[in-house]
Amino acid sequence: MKTRITELLGIQHPIIQGGMHFVGLAELAAAVSNAGGLGIITGLTQGTPEKLAKEIARCQGMTDKPIGVNITFLPTLTPPDYPGLFQVIIDAGVTVVETAGNNPAQWLPMLKDAGIKVIHKCTAVRHALKAQTIGCDAVSVDGFECGGHPGEDDIPNFILLPRAADELSIPFVASGGMADGRSLVAALALGADGINMGTRFIATREAPVHDNVKQAIVAASELDTRLVMRPLRNTERVLTNPAVERLLEKEKALGAALKFEDIIEEVAGVYPRIMQKGDMDAGAWSCGMVAGLIHDIPTVQELIDNIMAEAGSIINERLRSFA
Ligand SMILES: Cc1cc2nc3c(=O)[nH]c(=O)nc-3n(C[C@H](O)[C@H](O)[C@H](O)COP(=O)(O)O)c2cc1C
Repeated sequence: MKTRITELLGIQHPIIQGGMHFVGLAELAAAVSNAGGLGIITGLTQGTPEKLAKEIARCQGMTDKPIGVNITFLPTLTPPDYPGLFQVIIDAGVTVVETAGNNPAQWLPMLKDAGIKVIHKCTAVRHALKAQTIGCDAVSVDGFECGGHPGEDDIPNFILLPRAADELSIPFVASGGMADGRSLVAALALGADGINMGTRFIATREAPVHDNVKQAIVAASELDTRLVMRPLRNTERVLTNPAVERLLEKEKALGAALKFEDIIEEVAGVYPRIMQKGDMDAGAWSCGMVAGLIHDIPTVQELIDNIMAEAGSIINERLRSFA
């Protein structure tokens, strides 16, 4: 299947693995790229340019296919060494960067000069248009369903994707709620050029996270995610657990007076405990509603092959029968 995204990124299938904190390590990114998609290493999980350079080299040792690096711009008082992180990405010959969290304009000249394709992750059409205007090569349009940060507009992908298709001229991938061949065909029908998946890729054999995380996703239904940090205008979709329920009680009790410090125990530094140690009640961790569609833990190759096979049969059989 050729789309504007496969052509732009030089990949076989229009399937991207979005950056994921403490999940997007070399093993997963290499597995996705080897299976014909685009695997993405999560830059901030490494934190420093030195560690990121090592992780990219480790990944390049496992695949000779294109890989990407996600750089998320966080609203922190002590920002990471962004110039250093971008420099090691360039020096390593990485061909794709996924940016998220804030406008990447100031970094585009150095990335463009290095021939890197930039995909900016957006949760609103206005942000996607801005990304197009400043020169991003593509956007990832993340609907309200998505795991992680869906923004504050709450527009699901059935509306957001055709709105994006009506407005954008650059390629875009549908992100949030994507799991299988049905998702891919639906995304293409709504105007996208491919899909980006987060949660679905965590429940794979190669995802370098504790088995408890994978089992939690398989056990969860579409009713089991919650939105946290809305009062801070930093909304995150997470899988519910006792820590999340406690966090939501605090939000209710404190209302508009809520500050980040009030919920620090439930959100700060919890990822290593959850993803590496499998301590599932340690705090809030991103997970999409798509958990309701995830019932197995295949290899990445099986997952991607199944998506492409199912998409092919939907297009050639089910849809053709209506034509
Ligand atoms: C555990 C987890 C961690 C994530 N961490 C990041 C991150 O650090 N940076 C980022 O841009 N997106 C992050 N995301 C969002 C994903 O890249 C992707 O956009 C999202 O998961 C798509 O929705 P889906 O989960 O329904 O597939 C994360 C998602 C999950 C599930």
